[in-house]
This record gives sequence, C-alpha cells and structure tokens, in this order.
Amino acid sequence: MLLKGKHIVLGVTGSIAAYKIASLASMLVKSQADVTVIMTPNATNFINPITFESLTGNKCLVDTFDRNFEFQVEHVSLAKQTDVVLVAPASANVIAKAAHGIADDMLTTTLLACTCPKIIAPAMNTRMYQNPVVQDNMRILERYGMEVIAPASGYLACGDTGEGKMPEPEALLEAIVRALTPKDLTGKRILVTAGPTREKLDPVRYISNHSTGKMGYAIAAAAVRRGAKVTLVSGKTNLSYPAGVEVVPVESAADMAAAVKASADEQDVIIMAAAVADYRPAVVADEKMKKKDGELSIALERTEDILAWLGAHRRPELFLCGFSMETEHLLENSRQKLIKKNIDMIVANSLKQGGAGFGTDTNVVTLLTREETLELPLLSKEEVADRLLNHILAQKTGASL
Ligand code: CTP
Repeated sequence: MLLKGKHIVLGVTGSIAAYKIASLASMLVKSQADVTVIMTPNATNFINPITFESLTGNKCLVDTFDRNFEFQVEHVSLAKQTDVVLVAPASANVIAKAAHGIADDMLTTTLLACTCPKIIAPAMNTRMYQNPVVQDNMRILERYGMEVIAPASGYLACGDTGEGKMPEPEALLEAIVRALTPKDLTGKRILVTAGPTREKLDPVRYISNHSTGKMGYAIAAAAVRRGAKVTLVSGKTNLSYPAGVEVVPVESAADMAAAVKASADEQDVIIMAAAVADYRPAVVADEKMKKKDGELSIALERTEDILAWLGAHRRPELFLCGFSMETEHLLENSRQKLIKKNIDMIVANSLKQGGAGFGTDTNVVTLLTREETLELPLLSKEEVADRLLNHILAQKTGASL
C-alpha cells in the first residue's frame, strides 16, 4: 500500500472541524502510515492532544517552547522525514502566517521547514473565507506550490450556510494519497465510462442492470491521482464523484454514446467500464402504462454498441479498453469481443467467480490483449484499477504485459 511507512504530519488549528481529524488520523494509521499531529494552542480548545496520541502512538506536538521535549531539533528533524504535511482544518490565521513565512509556533515552524508536498484545507466562516485578504493569501500558498483544497459548501457551525466547510476525512485522505502518488500519467487524457444505463419504458419505469459503477469510478480516481486528465461518463450511481475528475452524467445508452463520441477525439485512452444496455424499449410511452388483464410483452430494439463504434472509427494511436462480463466461456467470448470490436485490451471477469462482479469492493479479472493473457488475483477494485492502468501505460510505451 502506498501509505505504508510514510511519515504524515497533520497540522490542526482552532476550528470546530478539528474533531474530524481524529478519524483521518485513524484511517492513516490503519493504512500503516506513521502519523504525527501538530496542534496550535487554539486547536486544543476543540480536541484534546491525548486523542491524537492514543490514535497515532506518537507525541502530539503543541508548542515550540514545551520544556518536556527537545523542541529545537524536533521541528527540523520531523520536517526532514515528513513525506506529506496536511494542515486541516486550516484557519484564516494559519493561512496568513504560512503565506508570509511567519513561524511562531510548532505548526508554522515545521511547515516552513518542510520541503515535502504541503496540502492546506481551509475551514472557516463563509464571510472570512470570501474575504479578499484570505483569498489572496491562498493564492500565495498556491504560488509557493502548496495545494489548497477548496472547502465544501454546507451548514457551518456558526449557523451560516455557505463555503468554508472542511472536506470530509475521506476527501482529505484522498488528497494525501494523490500527493504521494507518482505522476506517471501526466499529460494523458483518459475517458472512463461507468455504471449502468437506464432505458426508459414510460415516465416511471426503466430497464437497467446491477452495475454500481465502483470499478469505473476506481479507474477514474486512480488515473487522476496519477496525473491524467480524466473525463468520467457516468450512468446513475450512488457513488460520490472522484475529486479532480470531469464528470458527464448520463442516463441512457444513447446519452452515453453521444457523450463518449463528443470527446473521443481528444482522448489518448478510452476505458469502457460501463454496463451499457444492449436493448431498449422500442417505444417509450408518454404516459404511465396502466396494467391490463393478461400478459404484457415489451418490444425491444438494439442500442448502439459504443465500443464497437469507437473501434470502427478509431485513430490508430488511441488505446481502447473494454470490459467483458460473462457467466460462461469467459476467455473465448472475451477474446472474440476484442477482435470483433477492434480494441486493444479487454478486461474479462466472470460473474461466477467469488469476489468478482457487481457491487463488490474486490474483483478477479483477466487482462487480454491480442498477444497476451494475464490473470490477476483477487484484488480490491482500487488495485485492479492501478494494475490495469500500469498495463495500458506499458502497452502505450511498447513494453509487454
Ligand atoms: N458496450 C458498449 N455499448 C453497448 C454494449 C456494450 O460500449 N451497447 C461495451 C461495454 O461497456 C463493455 C463491452 O462493450 O466494455 C462489452 O460489453 P458486453 O455487454 O459484455 O458484451 P457485448 O459485446 O454486449 O456482448 P454480449 O452482451 O453478447 O455478451
């Protein structure tokens, strides 16, 4: 795992959102990162340093002038071994200090001494956040190479609603992972489709499938983490959009076809992970269909095969990857699709295999190209996504699987 053995410094300032950092610290420790929390004295009004010490097993640093430990070397030695520092919640005050090189406590001193990636997650009242002074200071931080995470909008502790809410711990964890990930896909444009399509029958009913979109979303998130510019064409799912990805929400196979075709020319890689309906109702009723005595048959017509269209109209340098879900003759059927649809790689998975398929967090897949077949073991969908991208990168740069 990427976080294993990494030294992460979490800087916590005085904001009500400080309590959420306890769950971030816990997530990082579970991923085997070595976490040190530095708090401003104000932050201790919101959460006790002992909470962080219990979670991380490391001393929580609060004040440079704490006589109980060796402060002179502490901030410098800590800064030397730190892989990422995240200041969250970052108050207007710490943002101002960091922007102007003021180092008057353990947190700002360490921040100044760190040369690793630095991430700042502002959290404050909307009026303070929108103040041009704070906005200017954030631009200064960006100019110095720090990543400023845009705060979420929502109900704030002060009773106002608006911008200024600290992103949830999961989003902060993602920002740390992104900062640590080698950017081997920088400059690549990747389009991923994900989720099910919905084919309307009447205003209240549709035909769909069990796809949850998890595999496609994991690919989009992994690609953006690795520096690619990612477009995610997504059917309806319950997942939140991965940060940094341009999302085009769609409903039907026809919508998905239109969205994919509209930006296909700009892409270096297209990965069709969506479960696209092969058929749709031939007639969509304008009004709700009322039940009648006896049976009902619904005439279906074929939808367009998006992947086959892409294969037929492809630029030679485009890398096209499809998915193939089968219940029998997995490899033979998948290989046929690879040839018939004129694509470069197909990711085959069997619905009958334990740990694979719809809704699970894991997958068991075989990567097929014209020349090679590579069976991957049971992996998390995140790991499958990275392995898949590794192989696409290897193919595009001429190496073999
Ligand atoms: N696909 C597509 N457009 C469709 C149907 C499928 O682009 N109308 C894509 C899927 O996103 C997937 C690949 O084609 O990447 C394989 O889809 P699958 O449904 O498994 O195969 P089909 O070719 O439709 O064959 P069959 O349904 O007979 O298994």
